[in-house]
Amino acid sequence: MGNQSTPRPRAVLIGTMGAGKTTVGQLLAARWGVGFRDTDHDVEAAAGKPVSDIFVEDGEAAFRALERDAVAAALISHDGVLALGGGAVLDKSTRALLADHTVVFLEVGLSDAAARVGLGVSRPLLLGNVRAKVKQLLDERTPIYESVATVRIPTDGRSAEQVAEAVLAALEASDG
Ligand code: S3P
Repeated sequence: MGNQSTPRPRAVLIGTMGAGKTTVGQLLAARWGVGFRDTDHDVEAAAGKPVSDIFVEDGEAAFRALERDAVAAALISHDGVLALGGGAVLDKSTRALLADHTVVFLEVGLSDAAARVGLGVSRPLLLGNVRAKVKQLLDERTPIYESVATVRIPTDGRSAEQVAEAVLAALEASDG
């Protein structure tokens, strides 16, 4: 359905930092023989600097505006696997655009998320107490992720390969 000539992502991956969107997304893309795209990269290309610098120099609101544009552009130009930054779904217009897409929510609990993101400084929202920040983000965002998801895939204790297999199986089942 929709306009046949407009490219659309085969799957859009959402979930918090540490859910495995990039790793799993790359595996899915390889499996399908399609491209992988990540809106954080698109934002960095548009701004000409890393996400962490955008947050520090321009502020989170500026980042979110760039992110909203990057997501909207990718949804009508990318026909592979698309990973969204963890906070992209906070934007109402982004949620509205996603209503028309195959959206895969990679679920992760506090322990696994904190372990996967480690202490890296590339994620400005996690500076300080990583575990407390991850918990706060999970509490705030889980209902939002659930509200836009077509399928929900648990990732705790699973390897990226196992998660990718679970996504493939779930999408095959939901495609009919
Ligand atoms: C953010 C997640 C990051 C990045 C930015 C903000 C968030 O993306 O967009 O640091 O608000 O959760 P990843 O989820 O790809 O790490």
